[in-house]
Amino acid sequence: MSAAGSEWWREAVIYQIYPRSFADASGDGVGDLAGALRRIDDLADLGIDAVWFSPFMRSPQHDAGYDVADYRDIDPLFGTLADFDAFLAAAHARGIRVIVDLVPNHSSVEHAWFREALAAAPGSPERDRYLFQDGRGAHGELPPNNWESEFGGSAWERIEEPDGTPGQWYLHLFDSSQPDFNWRNPVVREEFLSILRFWLDRGVDGFRVDVAHGLIKKEGMADHQKPENAGPMGSRDDLSPYRGQPEVHEIYREWHDLLATYDGDRVLCAEAWLPTSDKTALWVRSGEMHQAFNFAYLMTAWDPAALREVITDSLRAYPAVGAPATWVLSNHDVIRHATRLMMPPDQDDGIGPRSPFIPAEGSGLARARAATTIMLALPGSAYLYQGEELGLPEVVDIPDADRQDPTFARTAGRRYGRDGCRVPIPWEADAPACGFSASGESWLPQPASWAAHARDAERADPRSTLNLYRRLLAERREHRLGRSVLVWVDDMGDDVLAFHNRDVTVVANFGAEPLPLPSGTVIAASGPLVDHHLPTDTAAWIDTGGVPIGPETGGVPIVRADLEDLLEHYGDGAA
Ligand code: NOJ
Repeated sequence: MSAAGSEWWREAVIYQIYPRSFADASGDGVGDLAGALRRIDDLADLGIDAVWFSPFMRSPQHDAGYDVADYRDIDPLFGTLADFDAFLAAAHARGIRVIVDLVPNHSSVEHAWFREALAAAPGSPERDRYLFQDGRGAHGELPPNNWESEFGGSAWERIEEPDGTPGQWYLHLFDSSQPDFNWRNPVVREEFLSILRFWLDRGVDGFRVDVAHGLIKKEGMADHQKPENAGPMGSRDDLSPYRGQPEVHEIYREWHDLLATYDGDRVLCAEAWLPTSDKTALWVRSGEMHQAFNFAYLMTAWDPAALREVITDSLRAYPAVGAPATWVLSNHDVIRHATRLMMPPDQDDGIGPRSPFIPAEGSGLARARAATTIMLALPGSAYLYQGEELGLPEVVDIPDADRQDPTFARTAGRRYGRDGCRVPIPWEADAPACGFSASGESWLPQPASWAAHARDAERADPRSTLNLYRRLLAERREHRLGRSVLVWVDDMGDDVLAFHNRDVTVVANFGAEPLPLPSGTVIAASGPLVDHHLPTDTAAWIDTGGVPIGPETGGVPIVRADLEDLLEHYGDGAA
């Protein structure tokens, strides 16, 4: 582990474990902490710096753990606090940091506070910890406003009062099993500071903060017309009453200050879906969070001009507020990039048998490998999602009856939702459930093709996606690519994305014709090269023997003053 005080997160590669689909030790078909512990040496072998665990806290699992009933305990499905402590110790012993998922926007309906709210009267302190309101209409039979759930349908649910009469409504920006907290209530703020302390005291290295844009709702909670095609980033929805209200930043300043009282560089990472990099950068201003997911990058199509624009914009917007840019291509909410990069942009509804366009299996692997080869050479921090290192595609043929994402149910199957990227991952080609679970159980069915992607098979194949990731991660570390600046190379044509980072030149070919590579030693390539030519949808890292960093190398999107700031900021960093 790099030394305390090194701000390790500025260049870290953070691997997302989606615990229910990672590794199952208990044999019930759902992954668990003991399973993750058994596989920890595989993570060390991959060469990552940290792990982010999607939620494993006590939960009825209506939204796969993003509906928390007890923030200070592990759900029995995943194990015990002792299992977590064992994982944490084993990770730290291997130099791997551990970030946990915190879900502060809403709890589960099974949280003790929500039960108390249901049992209490309108206007009571118990109700005031959530967002209860009287309904509209003569008898309160209409929801208080027109807000819609992100998962489809109204964002309000009516309750029955303790005396059995139809009663107030509560807000749920997600599923009706996920009531939103009232973050204007100081009791809620105190409770979350205490929850943060609980996990910090256990030794976690930080938190990924769910729905970090949404905790505060605009005073009055008036109707809001979502613009058409608003999409998950709230594009063209700058006036959203639950996205980026100014008071939300006070909360993170308080959290930042709390984390700063602990040793070891603990971090906060914002899951904030906002329309632009500049807006997202507001979450990572000095004294707030440390990182924010770069969803603008994730949503960018396989197009060199669009990628150059979003990378340039990110490397301007985040360092401008003193934060590193981050990069991400896949997670548990989006179509896996080995499939998505073959699809038109703006795919956030999942994919299934009735989708109008389904890329052929394997057709997107070359692009996925090239995209990762570009991403892991970018300055800043990168997030990987379990299974992408195996080249896993989205599973597109999950039977309707097996689907578990609430989006699918809440839209009567109109939106497939996210199950296709959450299928348990393969470890051993010849084992039951591909080694995911010794019993052969798997909470979502694994496709037959999973065996070919199994980790043991890929580890033995020098050309596998796993070995590409291992090489890229080792070389990224060796060349310190995460703490640096990028210099664009301009003269290679419209179908090419090329840049320098320290002594590495990265070239990606988006055109149909093979591209001659610049001279130098090939450090890594996402696919086979032919006579030092780069085929279509392929990217390579070339050691050019020490290209100086600076505007004089040409094509720099950064003016010198900014560049000097950046160099001072990233410099060589403290190692
Ligand atoms: C974002 C999480 O990533 C997603 O999986 C979840 O459904 C929503 N937030 C609600 O917590």
